[in-house]
Amino acid sequence: MEVFKTIKSLQQSLERLNQNKTVGLVPTMGALHEGHLSIIDKAKNENDIVIASIFVNPTQFDKKEDLIHYPSTLESDLEALEKRGCDFVFTPTIEEIYQGNTVAESFDFKGLDKEMEGKFRTGHFNGVATIVKKLFMITSPNKAYFGEKDFQQLQIIKQMVKTEGLTVNIIPVEIYREIDGLAMSSRNTRLNEEQRKAAPEIYQTLLKGKKLFQQGDLEKVKSFVKNELIQNKELDLEYFEIADNENLKPATELDPTVSYRAFIAVFAGDIRLIDNIALN
Ligand code: PAF
Repeated sequence: MEVFKTIKSLQQSLERLNQNKTVGLVPTMGALHEGHLSIIDKAKNENDIVIASIFVNPTQFDKKEDLIHYPSTLESDLEALEKRGCDFVFTPTIEEIYQGNTVAESFDFKGLDKEMEGKFRTGHFNGVATIVKKLFMITSPNKAYFGEKDFQQLQIIKQMVKTEGLTVNIIPVEIYREIDGLAMSSRNTRLNEEQRKAAPEIYQTLLKGKKLFQQGDLEKVKSFVKNELIQNKELDLEYFEIADNENLKPATELDPTVSYRAFIAVFAGDIRLIDNIALN
């Protein structure tokens, strides 16, 4: 496995590769867990060369506090990536990426950014799309992999690729869960014992909500989820939404031709956890 800190050195190595080799990119912010590593495995199966990027992107943090507290575990990340057979790792500095101009580009996401995460995290998706576009320009991958835990991010990146006319193929990867159902996240390590015990209820509530959804009453599902979570003193619901899987518009009435997904954001103390589930 080779580790690159500069764009130039990474690109020189990519240029040396046989033209027929396919390249898969797995963008990350480090603090890798089994969820990330399962994405590396999928990328390894589908490409000749896998690049993982590790870059904590400052322009996607709406709260400075979150950026400051973002976990950094570079040494163990590199060890884990090497074990999984990752070929190249790109770990640039902020200066290398932003060249002294650490600002996000403005994108038109055709409304995908207006709901859910977009409502609560101003500017977040412009920051995400800015870094992802930069990474695509630097590495020219055939495929790039994104976890479905950040489902809205995934749809927004697909939209960005379309509007920017990029040729990369965006590959979604299913949510990887702990045995108790909690969606894997770098933030889980910050949960205290009580919060960690309470957190699986997020997914359990989504599962129960999914069952209730079969009865076709949206309001019933929404009030059920709210009531369930109110009873858990470790968890504080930020939003629960049922939306169209593709355009992410909140559902007002059910259309049998549409695929729906439920989205949730919950605070455990000051740690924000998100999850989602396909409903039909
Ligand atoms: O999902 C993430 O970890 C980040 O948003 C990403 C896609 C690596 C961009 O910084």
